[in-house]
Amino acid sequence: MTDHYPVTRGRHLNHVAWLYDPLVERLSFGRERKFREKTMAWMDISPTDRILDVGCGTGSLTLLLAERLNPAAGMISGIDAAPRMIAIARKKAAKKRADIDFQVGIAESLAFADQSFNWVVNSMFTHHIDTGLKEKAFAEMYRVLKPGGMLLTADIDRPTTLPGRLLGWSGRYLLLQPELEDNLRGLLPDFMHRAGFWQVEKKEHLYGLVSFFTAQKPEVER
Ligand SMILES: C[S@@+](CC[C@H](N)C(=O)[O-])C[C@H]1O[C@@H](n2cnc3c(N)ncnc32)[C@H](O)[C@@H]1O
Repeated sequence: MTDHYPVTRGRHLNHVAWLYDPLVERLSFGRERKFREKTMAWMDISPTDRILDVGCGTGSLTLLLAERLNPAAGMISGIDAAPRMIAIARKKAAKKRADIDFQVGIAESLAFADQSFNWVVNSMFTHHIDTGLKEKAFAEMYRVLKPGGMLLTADIDRPTTLPGRLLGWSGRYLLLQPELEDNLRGLLPDFMHRAGFWQVEKKEHLYGLVSFFTAQKPEVER
């Protein structure tokens, strides 16, 4: 039987899924773990939380987040548009005996009920989707968060150094990735505000190119 998956015009990585983990390890010069730790440092997680990782890829961050939960009380899901990324994530979880709900899914139409999660996280994901999909994806992340729930976005942002500018804008024009443009223009907070989030804060800026943002879904919708 053939599986039918939701289709996205986002830049999914199904074709290079096998290459993703080795490539990230090499391109980050062994700093991946540190980047994941920095991401989680901005998340005040309780062991009973329900967490969603959007565009989770091969699940590296999802697996680390799962370690912070009490498996009997909390839960974590990871979704990605690329079935082969999800297949790798599931294998990694099985190897660690981690109870994680990895699903093929698309950020612009999340298959979760309203108000399901305490935290929604997305790491290096938004620069894979165009402006229209960013609007929808942030609206969906807002929808599935509980009132008072938190968003963490770790992604490419307006560059602040010459190497950051060269790297970012060459990605945009030489690698022909127009989805990068909103990020490079520093527009991520605008998407969050438009989706309804408040207390949008840039917590940290790394390597002159990547920022960590947190935002909250208000307790009472405005
Ligand atoms: C650079 S990877 C980041 C993966 C992971 N979050 C990490 O930090 O390693 C971006 C991921 O977004 C996924 N993606 C692209 N468009 C998507 C969409 N519309 N919905 C869900 N995932 C999508 C890709 O398949 C890819 O796995």
